[in-house]
Amino acid sequence: MSTATTAIRESGLVNQEALRQKVKDMYRRVAKEPEGDFHFAMGRPLAEELGYPPADLDRIPRQALESFAGVGHFLGLADIRPGETVLDLGSGSGTDSFLAALYTGPEGHVLGLDMTDEQRDKAQRLARDAGFTNISFHAGYIEETPFEDASVDVVISNGVINLSAEKDRVFAEIARVLRPGGRLALSDIVTESQLPEKVKCDATLWAACIGGAMQQDDYRGGITAAGLRVETAQDNPQYRFLTEAAQGASRAYGVKSVNVLAVKPA
Ligand SMILES: C[S@@+](CC[C@H](N)C(=O)[O-])C[C@H]1O[C@@H](n2cnc3c(N)ncnc32)[C@H](O)[C@@H]1O
Repeated sequence: MSTATTAIRESGLVNQEALRQKVKDMYRRVAKEPEGDFHFAMGRPLAEELGYPPADLDRIPRQALESFAGVGHFLGLADIRPGETVLDLGSGSGTDSFLAALYTGPEGHVLGLDMTDEQRDKAQRLARDAGFTNISFHAGYIEETPFEDASVDVVISNGVINLSAEKDRVFAEIARVLRPGGRLALSDIVTESQLPEKVKCDATLWAACIGGAMQQDDYRGGITAAGLRVETAQDNPQYRFLTEAAQGASRAYGVKSVNVLAVKPA
């Protein structure tokens, strides 16, 4: 796989359009050719390695799971209850959305949001074919979601916020759509030390969930600045990158997967 540098950063600023295009190109392939060559592991073996209960995985569409590209299992922390409204930011082909739909049940609802048409179309088709009626997939960006203020009980997200060039806007959106007392539960990639420009400028490493990863204290600070209270932050040592370039960056800068639970004060 090429690690050629695309001009996603100029004068220290991220070119948002170029970045979104690069990320969409990567996740279009994840939806359509999950057996392809990627910097990261995918599919059911990854989900089981991360700690997803196999019996739950048996209950969701197999093709959604084939394109699973998450970085941790945070659904235990999310503790989704029957009847809750759940928003999955960057829902991809839908693995966490389908599981959340099982946990919230027919009285609840899951909203999946993703900017990549092929991921969303696949998830929507699988939901229809498998008879999931409490789930809907929406087009849009996690920096500017189409949902009402205080309309969601739980925001979930898996391996997505690191891909955004405007993480503070994402955290502000989460705080806006959560009802008071609502929860944010996620898995994401962060770093122990600050990444150098050469890694941040590598569009392929960015789309592979490395180049955009935020330093862990800054990440936590971003959530807090948006008005949420961080309750839990834990490392996911089971998550590993696959290629040499990705593993090298991971070793050098402490690039790692974490789970976070935060609450919007009531
Ligand atoms: C690493 S994949 C994870 C997908 C899914 N959460 C999973 O666990 O399989 C990242 C997903 O986030 C979506 N995405 C990335 N940046 C986004 C943004 N700014 N707005 C909306 N979706 C975004 C991509 O299209 C892709 O489907």
